[in-house]
Amino acid sequence: MLLLLLTNAFVLLPWAGAGRIIGGCEAKVHSRPYMAYLEVKNATNASRCGGFLIRPDAVLSAAHCMDIQEIENVTVILGAHNISDEECSQQKISVARWVIHPKYSCKDGRNDIVLLKLKKKATITENVRCISIAKKNERVRAGALCMVSGWGQTSEKGNMSDVLMEVDLEVQNEEICKQLSSKYQRQSMICVGDEDSKKATAPGDSGGPLVCNEKAHGIVSHGCGGRFSPEVFTRISHFEPWIRKKLKRFPLQDIPGSLSSD
Ligand SMILES: *[C@@H]1O[C@H](CO)[C@@H](O)[C@H](O)[C@H]1NC(C)=O
Ligand SMILES: *[C@@H]1O[C@H](CO)[C@@H](O)[C@H](O)[C@H]1NC(C)=O
Ligand SMILES: *[C@@H]1O[C@H](CO)[C@@H](O)[C@H](O)[C@H]1NC(C)=O
Repeated sequence: MLLLLLTNAFVLLPWAGAGRIIGGCEAKVHSRPYMAYLEVKNATNASRCGGFLIRPDAVLSAAHCMDIQEIENVTVILGAHNISDEECSQQKISVARWVIHPKYSCKDGRNDIVLLKLKKKATITENVRCISIAKKNERVRAGALCMVSGWGQTSEKGNMSDVLMEVDLEVQNEEICKQLSSKYQRQSMICVGDEDSKKATAPGDSGGPLVCNEKAHGIVSHGCGGRFSPEVFTRISHFEPWIRKKLKRFPLQDIPGSLSSD
């Protein structure tokens, strides 16, 4: 049975191009208006990640993007294409607070999801828009062709990209990720990209969305068994009830003096 599955996986579409957003190409300007550029800073270090707007005041990203000690400020830039330019489409908004999934584990990459609450609502424009997320019962299937975009490295040792890059990746049969890593969890992760692929995400792309059929189904999380490809994405459908619950509480927690708990 397993052999059969593996054999099938190897005959999936051969990759035509190169894709890290390694092996990818520059995204059409403002074609992904839900993309958020996320910067997390402490006194000495800064890290960059991707994220995506799911409500005018809320961005979803990967919990591991917040694995920085003594965070001093977190900002998102929406409506960006070239993050080193001051494009007039850009909206730079501070993050007021964030909720990391209570069962997030940096050791095994489980529950790698964070919900960020913006200090003020983004203004919805042609270049800044929300994306809908997969519902609880919407599991993306092996063979689906999806897109990922980000400002991460464009080669294994290369620099981060100033312009938004994108690549298409195929949802893989889960047996492959399971075989490569004992930490792979079917219900909460998605196995993406085949072993021969020259396309993948890279550091800096973390937190960005896996978009299938115009819906966010996954979040760029980690490699699988120390490899470049296939890689593991956080499965949004599994976390949708948690996301909804937290979104409902966000406005409440903004009222000074109101009780808040996770
Ligand atoms: C933090 O910054 C210091 C000094 O610039 C650098 O040596 C170190 O590698 C950085 N740490 C991380 C985790 O990026
Ligand atoms: C900033 O974060 C990095 C990575 O976690 C850490 O190595 C460094 O010590 C932190 N700096 C301060 C001032 O906390
Ligand atoms: C990476 O960035 C550094 C500093 O900005 C630059 O000197 C170097 O040429 C860049 N490398 C590549 C491969 O673009």
